[in-house]
Amino acid sequence: MLRIGSYALGANVVLAPMAGVTDRPFRILARQLGAGLAASEMLTSDQRLWHTTKSRRRMDHSGEPSPRVVQLAGADPAQLAEAARINVDLGAEIIDINMGCPAKKVCNRLCGSALLRDELLVSQLLEAAVRAVPAAVPVTLKTRTGWDREHRNGVAIARIAEQSGIAALAIHGRTRADFYEGEAEYATIAAIKDAVRIPVFANGDISTPQQARSVLQQTAADGVMVGRAAHGAPWIFGDMNYFLLHGRSAPARPRRELRDIMLAHLEAIYAFYGEEHGVRIARKHLGWYLRNLPPGPTMTPALRPALMAAGSTTAQFAMARAALDGWAEMEAQAA
Ligand SMILES: Cc1cc2nc3c(=O)[nH]c(=O)nc-3n(C[C@H](O)[C@H](O)[C@H](O)COP(=O)(O)O)c2cc1C
Repeated sequence: MLRIGSYALGANVVLAPMAGVTDRPFRILARQLGAGLAASEMLTSDQRLWHTTKSRRRMDHSGEPSPRVVQLAGADPAQLAEAARINVDLGAEIIDINMGCPAKKVCNRLCGSALLRDELLVSQLLEAAVRAVPAAVPVTLKTRTGWDREHRNGVAIARIAEQSGIAALAIHGRTRADFYEGEAEYATIAAIKDAVRIPVFANGDISTPQQARSVLQQTAADGVMVGRAAHGAPWIFGDMNYFLLHGRSAPARPRRELRDIMLAHLEAIYAFYGEEHGVRIARKHLGWYLRNLPPGPTMTPALRPALMAAGSTTAQFAMARAALDGWAEMEAQAA
């Protein structure tokens, strides 16, 4: 069983933190559907930016299953330490540090994966965060394989992390210079796994249960972290867990069950964001769901623009429910 500090994870397939996606409703859903962990969207460690509604929502963890993971980004050790301490007081049970974001400015300074060029600062940041929180709170690190292809210092960073007291690593198989381009490579992740004793999650381009198994085999990693493949398919975690456990695909979920998951997700979005914001946030998820569902008489080309144009949560929900009911009943009648 995979452990992070004193937390035993129910599964070794976890949700990747994604700003604008892994909000509280999505995290709860992913955990219900089998994700072993679901980290929050990245929060800057600069407290001066915490008064915004966006930051406050990112710090809201009510109703989330344990262990609750808060991801922080920062380039100032004292500031990061203070942010970690405050988030633990607010209910974080694991603190994850982001050194994987390729954006130049995520917190008014170079941070995210830009830090990988400065190994001394990396150790200062990680040590400061580990020292700031109680020993029972694991601090984890999410990073890339290096700065660019000529400077793949992922192994050095992983060793620094282990020495700094980091409890687990998640490695995206790209360098900072790669952004999201090209294919993820897993050889560096395998080298990192070989170099440290703490658990390692392999991340990048894992979209199917078969790929999850193949990446685990290639890297000997302890777990996989899945991001974009969960867009519009939060059930992917259960499917991957099943395949890893049984070596064959999970039985297809009945459409009625999928419909209920999607509608419950919409309701959770509306409850979390409120009327005005809720209808807008739901568009993104509805678009992803529609992309993944096979067409049918109620899944017409006109449905998508209508859902996007809906002026209220009530109208949007009613439209989605009518379409999904028709889609689910088709299968039920055929059975
Ligand atoms: C929309 C989006 C937002 C992201 N936001 C974050 C973030 O807040 N923190 C982070 O560490 N990584 C972030 N990432 C990177 C993902 O966690 C992950 O490393 C990357 O998407 C590769 O995994 P995948 O191929 O399974 O999507 C983000 C990625 C996407 C697509």
